[in-house]
Amino acid sequence: MLKGILNYAHYLLEEAINQDEIVIDATCGNGNDTLFLSELVGEHGKVLAFDIQKEAITATRQRVIEHERTNVFLIHDSHENIAKYLPANKDEKISGAIFNLGYLPKSDKKIITKPDSTITAIDTILEHLRKDGIIVIVVYHGHEGGKEEKEAILKHLFHLDQQQYSVLRYGFINQKNDPPFILAIQKKAN
Ligand SMILES: C[S@@+](CC[C@H](N)C(=O)[O-])C[C@H]1O[C@@H](n2cnc3c(N)ncnc32)[C@H](O)[C@@H]1O
Repeated sequence: MLKGILNYAHYLLEEAINQDEIVIDATCGNGNDTLFLSELVGEHGKVLAFDIQKEAITATRQRVIEHERTNVFLIHDSHENIAKYLPANKDEKISGAIFNLGYLPKSDKKIITKPDSTITAIDTILEHLRKDGIIVIVVYHGHEGGKEEKEAILKHLFHLDQQQYSVLRYGFINQKNDPPFILAIQKKAN
């Protein structure tokens, strides 16, 4: 069976990430991906979870507490500032990251991810990604501002050096109403 978008996003993360590693949820929202990453890296790993909305940080904190996770670090800041929160030791690499673009469901549809900050965050993570590490981006683009973000990211990733990165696009081309799709970047070399 072909995997749906969210299943495939998790599958890609699962394939690339090991226990005890450092990973990033760049848009934690209600915390679904944060919890998933938390399981993948285990109690000695670390999940850095970002969101600009206090509401999202509170919702994710609640989930983390309910599931008794001790490896999640919630950061109420834009992911464009990720560099500030990464380990000072450059040998401590990131093994994976996920972005769910767009707005928080059932919340203010005007608070959305934006092209410039998303691209800055992607580039920062790429610098710190270990070999075979992966960034998975779930691109929602049906909302106002979504198309511009989608196009800016595609343009940016199109130019990534193929010697250093594999860039994948996965999505269903016969679905109506701007279905989300996945972009994934895997680092080939350190
Ligand atoms: C589609 S939702 C994420 C859903 C989430 N993965 C989940 O499991 O519920 C997108 C989130 O990105 C957040 N966001 C928007 N711009 C951001 C930024 N610059 N930095 C971090 N988070 C941002 C929004 O506040 C929103 O919560």
